[in-house]
Amino acid sequence: MSLDQNQIAQDLAQAIASINAAKDLEALKQVKIDYVGDKSPLAKANQALATVDKSLRAEFGKIIGSAKAELNEVFEKRLKELSSQRDSQVLLTERVDVTLPVQKTLKGGLHPLTILTNEINDLFIGLGYKVAEGPELESEWLNFDALNIPADHPARTMQDTFFIEPLEAKLVLRTHTSPVQIRTMLDQSPPIYVICPGKTYRADELDATHTPVFHQVEGLVIDENITMADLKGTLDHFAKTIFGSEVKTRLRPSFFPFTEPSAEVDIFFNGRWIEWGGCGMVNEKVLVACGVDTKKYSGFAFGMGLERTLMVKYGITDMHDIVEGDVRFSQSFGVGRQ
Ligand code: DAH
Repeated sequence: MSLDQNQIAQDLAQAIASINAAKDLEALKQVKIDYVGDKSPLAKANQALATVDKSLRAEFGKIIGSAKAELNEVFEKRLKELSSQRDSQVLLTERVDVTLPVQKTLKGGLHPLTILTNEINDLFIGLGYKVAEGPELESEWLNFDALNIPADHPARTMQDTFFIEPLEAKLVLRTHTSPVQIRTMLDQSPPIYVICPGKTYRADELDATHTPVFHQVEGLVIDENITMADLKGTLDHFAKTIFGSEVKTRLRPSFFPFTEPSAEVDIFFNGRWIEWGGCGMVNEKVLVACGVDTKKYSGFAFGMGLERTLMVKYGITDMHDIVEGDVRFSQSFGVGRQ
């Protein structure tokens, strides 16, 4: 290949024109391959130097060298221009307008039953109680017999209780949290101070005041010299914490097989007496069945429904609101808000 000064100047002019004509970095990449890289006319001219007559080599070397230097300079300049053009484009297209309104999604929150359970646990833990738990699938013996509930008690019919097949297994979905009393007494020796919140089941239809799955909280104290006065004082404190310091309590004689004497606890709330739960002194028969020394120890127990407690406290008139899990219901208890 022979070298020609005009050709080199022409190649350089063509390369510079192409570089300046490149509209973006992508186009410049191709221009680099065609006019700056190893296969470009100028690179080829450089390779051809070796074949040029020695006397002309130095001169052509200089011409090609300065052409390459100029080309590189033009290329670098265009590269810088196009890069900064790209950067400002990116800043423009990827700009985030922090003043635009956001799409609000509701946060999840605790169900009011959970809030109430936590409140009750906190209150009793503060009084030195422990939280005790038992299984929801319970033995018939712990749910009924150990609590002195006789075999012919109406609660023990299929109509009221979910018995689990095979029936010989003698398992029920616990109908109350009271079996946790028995489990605790069999498991621990006095003094016992426990609170047992949990899920309970009865064969009721869901309506405005009933639900087949509900919650109760059970309290049990076994210690020396425990009297009904301790029970009354505890329930009074419990009621005041949940319903407010204005609330009054009263005990009304009643009957439960596992307490003797037994009482209903009523609260005076919003101008009227309302039945809240059951309570009493733990029946000696129950203490004996659990191996508690009745000469030394006595105790009290109480149990109330948590749904009922919520309904009374907040004036909720329809059980569906509590069980359906509509977030708008939970929101009114101050949870789940943005
Ligand atoms: N277990 C009873 C029920 O479900 C409630 C109850 C009454 C619990 C008296 C007690 C108690 O601990 O002493 O109806």
